[in-house]
Amino acid sequence: MKFYIKTYGCQMNERDSEAAAAMLLDDGHLQVHSEEEADLILFNTCSVREQAELKAIGKLSILKKQSSGKFFGIMGCMAQSRGEELLKKIPHLNFALGTDKIHELPEIVRQLRKGSKTADLEHDNIQDAAGLDSHLVPVNGFKAYVSIMRGCDRFCTYCIVPYVRGRERSRSPEAVLEEIRALAKAGVKEVMLLGQNVAAYGTKGLKMDPDVSPFADLLEETAKIEGIERIRFTSPHPAFFNKRLIECIANTPKVCKYVHLPLQSGSDRILKAMNRPYTAEEYMNIVRSLKEKCNGNIAFSTDIIVGFPGETEEDFEMTRKIMEEVEYDLAYIFKYSPRKGTKASQMEDDVPKEVKEERNQILLKELEKSSQKENLRAVGKTLELLAEGPSRRNAARWCGRTDQNKLAVFENTTGVKVGDKVMVHIDRATSMTLFGTIVTD
Ligand code: SAH
Ligand code: SF4
Ligand code: F3S
Repeated sequence: MKFYIKTYGCQMNERDSEAAAAMLLDDGHLQVHSEEEADLILFNTCSVREQAELKAIGKLSILKKQSSGKFFGIMGCMAQSRGEELLKKIPHLNFALGTDKIHELPEIVRQLRKGSKTADLEHDNIQDAAGLDSHLVPVNGFKAYVSIMRGCDRFCTYCIVPYVRGRERSRSPEAVLEEIRALAKAGVKEVMLLGQNVAAYGTKGLKMDPDVSPFADLLEETAKIEGIERIRFTSPHPAFFNKRLIECIANTPKVCKYVHLPLQSGSDRILKAMNRPYTAEEYMNIVRSLKEKCNGNIAFSTDIIVGFPGETEEDFEMTRKIMEEVEYDLAYIFKYSPRKGTKASQMEDDVPKEVKEERNQILLKELEKSSQKENLRAVGKTLELLAEGPSRRNAARWCGRTDQNKLAVFENTTGVKVGDKVMVHIDRATSMTLFGTIVTD
């Protein structure tokens, strides 16, 4: 069967889609890259904001009209929360597979032609299952996502993830490292370790201690693997970001000096209402400490929610101030969206839409200022890139990323290949991109 997977949501969903595709390929199916060519159209869905759900549902309804005789399935987070309902509502939907059931996909697909509708949405909190560690490398190039934990136990009051992804569980370091060793053998040079709360990796049952971080241990073990040049990770919760982890990031050269550290809000009052157990000051202490230990050679990105219930102008101003102080390279700014079943959905969504929009715009401007400033700092420096390939518009121009995840464009004058290390002198910069020339010696 020819299958097409459309992925919504975060990197964890992207990783699950990749594993799903690898399992189907293994079962003799063929992956295609458009809906028109496919016999089976699969949506890996996200529930994190209403907009994310509407997108997938809209697409599913439109497709029906154009595609008689095709099979349709949903998996992932919205399948988990609304699978039963959607199977009833959307007549052409054939199956819904929960977040703990991805490994059952090949069997479900084998049964498809029998015609019955199927849902398997049970939460059994799988940690590892056959096929979940499958990858599509080296087709995907030199980078790979590696899931190190599933689920989330933090229950931030706005967030649906703990309900749709189940309990927080870490894979064993042995399983993770074995997967990374195999990836390195297949040509992977850069890994992104994934989880909703990676800084808490392996901490279940441990007492909080500033000198103990199983996640830092995992980073160091990963760094020992031959062939792996860069290690990234997302997302670490600030409450688990301790001294041991800060020192590990600063002292392990292969760990990229780029940290995605979700702030959510700069107001202690709002953080408390969000059930984010840190203060703005504690957050800033992590940032300051990392900046100091890395001699300023570190970049940050973040997630922020504007318009959480009860957010006043003063609360918002505190968030803006933190943005100004950290000088983020990148920030994902979200307008609060009530999610059914969460604690915050019982609070009044009292910040008007226009105010959310206005606050969003103010923070976007703040971001533009800081990312431009950060990029201008790179001008005149010679930086190491891992080459990603030719740019879409001009094949002679190549792109690469720095350790700090900045995108740089350069003329490929020396026959650089995908995944090669290349030293580039940065000549100029915009808020989005660096432009440079290869330095040969
Ligand atoms: N585990 C990650 C976040 C995963 S969800 C962490 O804690 O860092 C990605 C982001 O979506 C969150 O950081 C938050 O900023 C945003 N988000 C989650 N629920 C939301 C909601 N109900 N409305 C608006 N944004 C939300
Ligand atoms: Fe959601 Fe909070 Fe878990 Fe992140 S840590 S996934 S925001 S509940
Ligand atoms: Fe969305 Fe699920 Fe990720 S809700 S953000 S795809 S964990």
